[in-house]
Amino acid sequence: MAKILFITATNTNIGKTYASTKIIERLSNAGLKVGASKPIETGVDTIPQDAYKLLTAVKKNNVNFRDFTPFDITAYSFSLPSAPFVADSNGIINISKIIDKIVQLKSLCDVLIVEGAGGLMVPIKKDYFMLGFIKDFRNGQKRLLTWVKATLKAYLGLPYLIGGKLNSSNLEGFLRRKA
Ligand SMILES: Nc1ncnc2c1ncn2[C@@H]1O[C@H](COP(=O)(O)OP(=O)(O)OP(=O)(O)O)[C@@H](O)[C@H]1O
Ligand SMILES: [Mg+2]
Repeated sequence: MAKILFITATNTNIGKTYASTKIIERLSNAGLKVGASKPIETGVDTIPQDAYKLLTAVKKNNVNFRDFTPFDITAYSFSLPSAPFVADSNGIINISKIIDKIVQLKSLCDVLIVEGAGGLMVPIKKDYFMLGFIKDFRNGQKRLLTWVKATLKAYLGLPYLIGGKLNSSNLEGFLRRKA
């Protein structure tokens, strides 16, 4: 059964995509089939750039993602470079569609890296924040989700805080559990 790593942070532009590509590389090198998703991307001109970077990293090792375009690993992309709730001026975001996308992509890998939009407190819908989505998703998929907080501001070798525990060796533990 595939695992999901949800990459979030305290803010936007803090290193989520950077950390995600490093994790993709690391897990791929450890022999895992890794996938990625950027369910909501804002500030998209023509191509969702985060999705593009994640997909490029994934394609090196996972043939199941080979034919995908960046749009295939997103559920929503918006041109306005702001919080999803604001960028979604027509109110089209449907949480079920995001979950469906994640579940679909999860079936194509051993580990799915999911990059959040902005920080933990970014609104996705009115009064519904990224933090709430992670919690809801986590509760619905208890055994499938490990919550990763990547805080590159504190980048000291391995900044990945998995499952909320301040233990940088958790990524190694994650790898060992797969074996
Ligand atoms: N550890 C690092 N070393 C060098 N450059 C870094 C590091 N972490 C992030 N960066 C750079 O900082 C910038 C922002 O990083 P990144 O795009 O990963 O942030 P983000 O949290 O994904 O942003 P967004 O909220 O827009 O998704 C990028 O130019 C990235 O290359
Ligand atoms: Mg990013």
